[in-house]
Amino acid sequence: MAVAAHHAFAGALQHARARTLSLVAPYSRAEMERVQHPLMSPLDWDLGHIAAYEDLWIAHRHGGGALLRGDLADLYDAFETPRAVRGDIPFLRGQDVFDYLDAVRARTLEVLESRGPGDGTLFEMVIRHEAQHNETMRQTLFLANLPGGYPTSAPRDAGLPEGWIDIPAGDFSLGADAAGFAFDNERPRHRVDVGGFQIARRPVTNATWLSFCEGGGYERREWWSDEGWAWKEEYDITHPEGWTAHGRPRDDHDRPVMHVSWFEADAFARAHGARLPTEAEWEKAATWTQEPVAQIGEAFEWTSSHFGGYPGFTAHPYREYSEVFFGDRYRVLRGSSWATEPRLRSITFRNWDLPQRRQIFAGVRLAKDVV
Ligand code: AVJ
Ligand code: FE
Repeated sequence: MAVAAHHAFAGALQHARARTLSLVAPYSRAEMERVQHPLMSPLDWDLGHIAAYEDLWIAHRHGGGALLRGDLADLYDAFETPRAVRGDIPFLRGQDVFDYLDAVRARTLEVLESRGPGDGTLFEMVIRHEAQHNETMRQTLFLANLPGGYPTSAPRDAGLPEGWIDIPAGDFSLGADAAGFAFDNERPRHRVDVGGFQIARRPVTNATWLSFCEGGGYERREWWSDEGWAWKEEYDITHPEGWTAHGRPRDDHDRPVMHVSWFEADAFARAHGARLPTEAEWEKAATWTQEPVAQIGEAFEWTSSHFGGYPGFTAHPYREYSEVFFGDRYRVLRGSSWATEPRLRSITFRNWDLPQRRQIFAGVRLAKDVV
């Protein structure tokens, strides 16, 4: 086995762990244990789940050993123990969860040493899984109004010009090619026909969303789908999640709007004589060589596409990653957010969530048909 690959994985595992530990360092034991929001797990659950996932895929599946804590397997299985009940279960707390992370990691490094990384897929899954949960934990911090839920650097796009980019009709290759790691749902790469369209150079900012609110955006029935209107009425939604009680953004006005649902994104687009891009349009625009859209953003972007498998889809060893979510319940988001680890950022990455969800660091980029 190539020694270089071995060291690269050991380094990436270490980097992921350092990022996790610095993320949770500011919070008290009580803050780590509490259910901060009904949609989210206690932060300590995320930590134990990170360790359990790593032990399952490396020491157990890759190394052929027994689980370190088989007794915890169900409690940390996202499907056996859905988020709504995670507050009531005996997940590891305090120093115990850090000890579990350490003990699993020692086994992981032993297996890496003795067996090598194989084709690297399982190690990439584990490294990226930890980084994905870092973003989930930041969503929890955001919903709980704890520090760590907002970007701290200046808005990145502030100087970019407004306006539209014309993308002519033509087919292009959607998805990740066969080389290197990609999540199962990004493959296989395949040709798709895309008609001509226009896409916004910049994502919608807080300032523009505020104008939408002030212009009756949440009151004009004709801008909303039936489902979106019913949701908005039921929960009395009048602005993005996290804005002040007076309906003002807490974050910089030049920053992309975040924490809007797909329903809101869809209504906003209609109010502007536009629509959301399909995910194929989004990816084509992001790879459009003449004038690439700034695709590596501060906020994920909702698309109009349902989450499904590409033609010829085959599941990863971790079958529950994608396939169980395919269908018309979930919408695809593209891009990345300020909270996304650089290793996870990719033009072909597909995120997904339910249309009413607002915990994701996600906003809107508009598209239009060419007339
Ligand atoms: C890809 C962000 C939708 O959080 O549900 C973490 C990532 N999968 N553990 C999710 C994931 C299993 C996933 N998303
Ligand atoms: Fe997970």
